Amino acid sequence: MSSVTLKNIVKRFGTFTAVHQANLEIPEGDFVTLLGPSGCGKTTNLRMIAGLLDPTEGEIQIGGKRVNDIPIHKRNLGIVFQNYALFPHKTVAENVAFGLKYRDVPKSEVASRVQAALDLVQLPDVGDRYPKALSGGQQQRIALARAIVIEPDVLLLDEPLSALDANLREDMRVELKRIQSKIGVTTVFVTHDQSEALAMSDKIVVMSAGRIEQVGTPEEVYNAPASEFVANFLGASNILQGTCLGKSGSDVAVETSLFGTVPVPASKASGLDNGPAKLVLRSEKLTLLPPGADTTGMITAPATVETVDYQGQTVRYFIRTGDTQLQAINLIDERPFPEGTEVTAAFRAKDCAALPGA
Ligand SMILES: Nc1ncnc2c1ncn2[C@@H]1O[C@H](COP(=O)(O)OP(=O)(O)O)[C@@H](O)[C@H]1O
Ligand SMILES: [Mg+2]
Repeated sequence: MSSVTLKNIVKRFGTFTAVHQANLEIPEGDFVTLLGPSGCGKTTNLRMIAGLLDPTEGEIQIGGKRVNDIPIHKRNLGIVFQNYALFPHKTVAENVAFGLKYRDVPKSEVASRVQAALDLVQLPDVGDRYPKALSGGQQQRIALARAIVIEPDVLLLDEPLSALDANLREDMRVELKRIQSKIGVTTVFVTHDQSEALAMSDKIVVMSAGRIEQVGTPEEVYNAPASEFVANFLGASNILQGTCLGKSGSDVAVETSLFGTVPVPASKASGLDNGPAKLVLRSEKLTLLPPGADTTGMITAPATVETVDYQGQTVRYFIRTGDTQLQAINLIDERPFPEGTEVTAAFRAKDCAALPGA
């Protein structure tokens, strides 16, 4: 396994810039996810790492060595794409063995390597079948077996679970993570699905319009978003205009017209100077309570429920307090508050983050 580094990578297609000055260090053995909406440049980055596309500027390193001029088949990568196209007229074993064909693997070793890869994806007995005799999820596991049988230095996965239906996708998430930790291969995973990214990654690289917005652990990008884009792409957030009044102890005081002064943990308010600031209040952290409920230690405002979007275990409310509409996503035991109910909107300052700017 190897580290992967992007240094000042720019990719232009004609006059259109798909990737702007990307800098990224992926340590050996890490599972790193490129996360962002469709068209933000995830696949373009992955294809440059793979050697399927040349960067316009900058350097790509694998294992600390520049690989810009090294062709794809000499980079020792395992690649799985969304449409995991197995060869229909080859058996599963032949499909998995395909990756070994152009490597100097002795014939006697091929069968045992193929079997080990099939064991790893927990399909030990399907080697003699043809792909069409397997389900979508099983075919995707075979595509993964074909990618890892070569013992790649880096595994590149481009939305490999997107074609699967929701339940299977969640099972495969766990499965893929298990396999990756077992073989310890450096993995670059691409998805537009934030819950997939949060569940699987050591580090998440959040991208928007060809730019890297933030790199951090799932907890870091979720709890301490570096931009409004990140705060809204990973879940939903209320962004309130305010004023940073300065640091006191381990908190930064952010004053908002709606909630007064909110002491935001300094660890979630980096780059904040006195002056205009934005308070980031995640929708899941804003709780609706009946008026008069115990709100000790919480910051509160009276509000009216305007819209109720029932989602089973959770409910998404739009509430109004003064001129402001806020969004709250709450777990519910029984019935949600009906539209028109007067409630208390409450949250804890420690759950907030803050961003610089007006
Ligand atoms: N070969 C190409 N020629 C021109 N534009 C391209 C090409 N490949 C990708 N793009 C553009 O670059 C941007 C990023 O594409 P892509 O990396 O595929 O995004 P993502 O994988 O995040 O959905 C998009 O606007 C896309 O239309
Ligand atoms: Mg893509």
